[in-house]
Amino acid sequence: MLDRLKQQLAGAKEFRRKRGRPFVILTYAQSLDGSIAACDRRQVRLSGAASMTLTHRLRSCSDAILVGIGTVLNDNPELTTRLVDGHSPRPIILDTRLRTPSDARLLQRKDCACWIISHRESDGARRENLLKAGAIVLPCQTAVDGKIDLRALMKILVAHEINILMVEGGARVITSFVGARLVDQFVITVAPKLIGGLNAIDDRGTGMDPFVPLVQVAYQQLGNDMILWAQPDWNSA
Ligand SMILES: NC(=O)c1ccc[n+]([C@@H]2O[C@H](COP(=O)([O-])OP(=O)(O)OC[C@H]3O[C@@H](n4cnc5c(N)ncnc54)[C@H](OP(=O)(O)O)[C@@H]3O)[C@@H](O)[C@H]2O)c1
Repeated sequence: MLDRLKQQLAGAKEFRRKRGRPFVILTYAQSLDGSIAACDRRQVRLSGAASMTLTHRLRSCSDAILVGIGTVLNDNPELTTRLVDGHSPRPIILDTRLRTPSDARLLQRKDCACWIISHRESDGARRENLLKAGAIVLPCQTAVDGKIDLRALMKILVAHEINILMVEGGARVITSFVGARLVDQFVITVAPKLIGGLNAIDDRGTGMDPFVPLVQVAYQQLGNDMILWAQPDWNSA
């Protein structure tokens, strides 16, 4: 399945030129009951060793990897490819109000600077602190809900020649990307656990299509986890 995706990714530059945006891979791990974290948003280890390695392989195929500020504040991830050979993608945080802590792990990365996508009029002092910590703050248009306008963000990424974007969560970010129909490939790890926690799709009035038909569906077992590979069929949504 990964090889098939890699073949498709070989055409990502052309995809970016034609579609005016990067190819977007949305990936996350969930329990059998669809939870990506505990109900208080506490991080839960879901992926087994083999599926975690797959996640790192997917990262190494991507130019950039994006998470929301909620994930940074909760999990403080590194988003590297330490389990496999290959480059780590550039980290991007959606952080309208510049709440990223200046000691966040993503800002410690030596290989490339973290991009923080913020509101155009975000706080000057916070911006200065983050710049000092090595981040690159990129102002972006916001949507009516005050969040980063994802279509405007796509234009920024195109301008920076990002061909392949991996989106890793959390719930609000996953929901926004699906709601904006900005997903080309889903790679979802389903772990044999029941959490009763935070749903991956955190739809609170986002006006999301109630059903997203998936095509090119394939299932792969890695250890005890099941990996769902699928593409959304936006034309039938
Ligand atoms: N199992 C997994 O694979 C996995 C992966 C990642 C995270 N997680 C879990 O997910 C949870 C965090 O998810 P979360 O929903 O709280 O936070 P999140 O999705 O990581 O971040 C959401 C925040 O990002 C900012 N944002 C800016 N523009 C946005 C946009 N267009 N759409 C959505 N968000 C935008 C908003 O904050 P501002 O308004 O302040 O900018 C928003 O509240 C944690 O519990 C974490 O453990 C699980």
